[in-house]
Amino acid sequence: MTLLTDLSAWQQLDAHFEGIKNVHMRDLFDQNPQRFEQFSLSLNDILFDFSKNRITDETLGLLLKLAEQADVTGWRDKMFAGELINHTEQRAVQHVALRNRRNEPLYAGDERIDQEIKSELARVKALAESIRTRHWRGHSDQPITDVVNIGIGGSHLGPLMVTEALRPYSIHDLKIHFVSNIDENHINNTLETLNADTTLFIIASKSFRTQDTLFNAQTAKKWLMEKLDSEQLLHRHLVAVTSNVEAAVEFGVAHENIFKMWDWVGGRYSLWSAIGLPIVIAIGSENFDMLLEGAYEADEHFKSAPLEQNIPVIMALLGVWYNNFFGAESIAVLPYDQNMHRFPAYLQQADMESNGKGVDREGKPVDYQTGPVLFGEIGIASQHAFYQLLHQGTKLVPADMLAPISNYHCIANHHRALMSNIFAQAEALMKGKNEAEVRAELEQQGMDEQSIARLLPYKVFPGNRPTNTFLFYTLDPKTLGSLIALYEHKIFVQGVIWNLNSFDQWGVELGKVLASHILEEINQGNPVSEHDSSTNGLINYYLERKPKKLG
Ligand code: F6P
Repeated sequence: MTLLTDLSAWQQLDAHFEGIKNVHMRDLFDQNPQRFEQFSLSLNDILFDFSKNRITDETLGLLLKLAEQADVTGWRDKMFAGELINHTEQRAVQHVALRNRRNEPLYAGDERIDQEIKSELARVKALAESIRTRHWRGHSDQPITDVVNIGIGGSHLGPLMVTEALRPYSIHDLKIHFVSNIDENHINNTLETLNADTTLFIIASKSFRTQDTLFNAQTAKKWLMEKLDSEQLLHRHLVAVTSNVEAAVEFGVAHENIFKMWDWVGGRYSLWSAIGLPIVIAIGSENFDMLLEGAYEADEHFKSAPLEQNIPVIMALLGVWYNNFFGAESIAVLPYDQNMHRFPAYLQQADMESNGKGVDREGKPVDYQTGPVLFGEIGIASQHAFYQLLHQGTKLVPADMLAPISNYHCIANHHRALMSNIFAQAEALMKGKNEAEVRAELEQQGMDEQSIARLLPYKVFPGNRPTNTFLFYTLDPKTLGSLIALYEHKIFVQGVIWNLNSFDQWGVELGKVLASHILEEINQGNPVSEHDSSTNGLINYYLERKPKKLG
């Protein structure tokens, strides 16, 4: 396999970068009034405007050539065909099968999976509908009013993000809670608001081995047992989603209350599976189908659109352009939609756990940058927090901005003001404000020359800061499904270009193993000396001071 940096497209991009690195987007827009039309694409009612990027036709051509030389389409086809592309775990990557709407056989390796997907989805919907229609009753024959999802990482962030994003589509007399943190504050704060008679817990863990989830699940079970007359009635309050059915049974979950997931679905790609149970309970089966439909349409787009019109491919290539040629270390995701407030956190796991790797598919350390630091927040809140750095800081932070043209519950003046902000910020980041403009403004205010000279450098905005803007009609289930899937495929394409396995996560192991060893030491309670002096010091400091109630 030719090394990435040896590919001719890479080398041409390197040379091209030298010519474009100082070109200002203002000039690109001045030279080409068709830039918006030329550099924007759409999928159903999602518009993807990527014209405010530091690219020309030539840049895009070279980036597309890079995608071809890295065999993006070949890898894409392997993924959809169910080949074992997660080679370090010998697994297929078939989250796309979970939303496939065609009636066709689907495989993970040699195993046929479409029938099982359908039957598991039907079980999930049946449970969700029985809760929504108040047929599912707790031990004292009362309907369920509160559902608590206990899970972490992919068994938490996806369902949380989607239930928040689709709040307007949710049933109102049912509350969905999420507990992820092993810090007892999380479960305590949640339990203190709940009535055991009307609460259902979902233990969501692909492995059923994750410490945080198991601790919280044990505490929840104990809490239930204290309120229930008999363990026999636990099944009315406890369900699980896992690929480790034996462990769930051993924990005390009734067999019929266990929903399956599979090793060919990565945790961070699993909201489309039974891990999405809290979503189905919140928004109902039909809306969940629309979420799947939206994702499926994005899958079809990714599969069939030519590379130059392929939204996730373009998203990925722009990311590579800044990450590998401009040396940008981070990207920001900035939704201008309050209900998308967990979208950046969700993408953080999807992106950073997938492509935060330094060894390629051949087991060799890479000699180029891979996944960026992804961060983000609601756009409006961020304007009053960290946009200062985006506008005038020394770092280049390419940003994605996303906004709905309309809201489910629209207050017209609010929404018009919201939209004015997203447009203004993207324009300001692109254009900036040069010295002449600042000077003219200050002169117009009647400022004297000395004050102008003093203030001027602080008031200049360099601009030339790239953004992508996504506009969609409204954040409905289908649109959200498409948006998530577009980002999933973007991450996939970048993983292919960087020659990574985006579907394992060995990097989370070391800390877990050390934590379980240190927990044993803490439980024994004796001073420790076998770690480095900092770790010894911290553990011993804690052991000396921890209150008696901690054992
Ligand atoms: O520690 C990371 C991780 O393995 C994630 O990849 C995963 O989404 C999360 O933990 C939770 O894992 P599980 O669903 O097996 O409890």
